[in-house]
Amino acid sequence: MANIERTFFMIKPDAVQRGLIGNIIERYERKGLKIIAMKFMQVSQDLAERHYAEHKGKPFYDALVEYITSGPVVAGVLEGHDIIEINRAMMGKTNPAECDVGTIRGDFAMEISRNVIHGSDSLESAKREIGLFFTEEEIIEYTRADDVWLYE
Ligand code: RTP
Ligand code: MG
Repeated sequence: MANIERTFFMIKPDAVQRGLIGNIIERYERKGLKIIAMKFMQVSQDLAERHYAEHKGKPFYDALVEYITSGPVVAGVLEGHDIIEINRAMMGKTNPAECDVGTIRGDFAMEISRNVIHGSDSLESAKREIGLFFTEEEIIEYTRADDVWLYE
């Protein structure tokens, strides 16, 4: 079984406020993504700044930190084959105007600054982001019954 990866996702404050948690998690489950950690939480100013450190100095940075700390989020970790690429494909492009219909952002978002979901964009950022949001004890390793039907 090659390419088993982990990725970090966050259902952003706009999606929580708009009642989209269930729909997004349902998409993950339906497709076969395996959730190995998940929590409902408020992102602090400090955590937001660390999470989005790569964007510090960009024109949208302050608004981005304000957005991500504006209300509760659902943060989680997914595990599976090529999960980073699969999750990014399910999310759609950063700008909802360019997203395919059928993607999370394509179906639920109108604007880049309110784009509903975050997902790690590389193995390196996945590792960094998982470490920022979760302790080792919060990540649960388990065997899932579906796996024998999802993977050859
Ligand atoms: P994310 O990190 O949230 O998963 O999104 P992404 O990789 O698709 O996009 P990224 O370039 O990392 O940007 C992070 C978030 O910043 C906001 N953004 N606003 N106003 C703007 O021009 C602009 N550009 C980026 C978006 O919320 C984006 O998801
Ligand atoms: Mg990003």
